[in-house]
Amino acid sequence: MSELDGMTVFRIGGEPYTREDLMKMDPVCLRALLRERVHHTIEVEIYPILLGRKKMAEKFGMQPELIMEVWKERGLSAEGDDFDWCRKYMALAAEMRAGRKVDLEEVLPTPFTEDQMEVVRQLIWDRRSVRDWVSRPVPEEMIESILEAGRAAPTGCNLDIVRFVVIRDSREFKMVWSDIPTPPDQCVLIVVCYDDRVYPTVGHDQFVPHNILYDCAAAADHMCLMAHALGLGAVWLSCTEKTAKNFHEKYGLPPYIKQALHIAVGWAAAGSIKSLRMPLSEMIIKRGQS
Ligand SMILES: Cc1cc2nc3c(=O)[nH]c(=O)nc-3n(C[C@H](O)[C@H](O)[C@H](O)COP(=O)(O)O)c2cc1C
Repeated sequence: MSELDGMTVFRIGGEPYTREDLMKMDPVCLRALLRERVHHTIEVEIYPILLGRKKMAEKFGMQPELIMEVWKERGLSAEGDDFDWCRKYMALAAEMRAGRKVDLEEVLPTPFTEDQMEVVRQLIWDRRSVRDWVSRPVPEEMIESILEAGRAAPTGCNLDIVRFVVIRDSREFKMVWSDIPTPPDQCVLIVVCYDDRVYPTVGHDQFVPHNILYDCAAAADHMCLMAHALGLGAVWLSCTEKTAKNFHEKYGLPPYIKQALHIAVGWAAAGSIKSLRMPLSEMIIKRGQS
């Protein structure tokens, strides 16, 4: 008899998933469920447990074990950074279930040096939206760095739903509607999409559906910052329901991939006066005193 016999996986607002359900689940959703379960049942719990603020649940970390077992039974590849991360937390949980003491590889935030801080300030305060570009190729490594920055953005409940479509062929630019009708041919459009199958699987569509667009926004912002650091100019570009549908049909995306926005990136043609914000005092509704 295995420890996992009869084990189920919690689903918000629905019946828990049985092993049989997991065996049938789409792999993209199953992998997202694994990350979410590691996040909610181990990552979020482990620190309060180790700090003595919370009691360890009897089956601590067992839900991800069941998902991982099913994943392997289905012959799916468990390679990737997300799997490595899951395995680390699952190993810690296993040690704790066995009553052994664990050491966390804690990397505490440390203040930046003054030089590093200057770079951060430059990044945050000098970034601006660029809407005019020259016709000069953007090297592939730069696009890779920009996409990697998008990948590093935070993601609600660690579900990783953001997807990218990179459009480099200027003939395809017109498929993506924006108020910049004709970006020059060497520009790159990165369409930020999401996989719409994941939220209903974990039940998050019922409680935090807005997180989907926050995820896309976080990725877009990370990418614009990286573009700026690389000396490129980028801008966020909105879509409407209608224009997103149009892109979806013209580009031939699967039904579950939805567009949230896109960014245009290229070599800036002209500088622009950096927009400035309203005073901080007018943005703060209430400020607690220390
Ligand atoms: C959610 C969002 C949607 C945006 N949509 C567009 C857009 O459709 N077209 C556009 O030219 N700029 C768009 N922008 C860029 C804003 O106009 C720009 O960030 C703002 O004017 C401030 O300027 P800055 O980015 O240079 O600081 C968008 C920005 C955000 C955050």
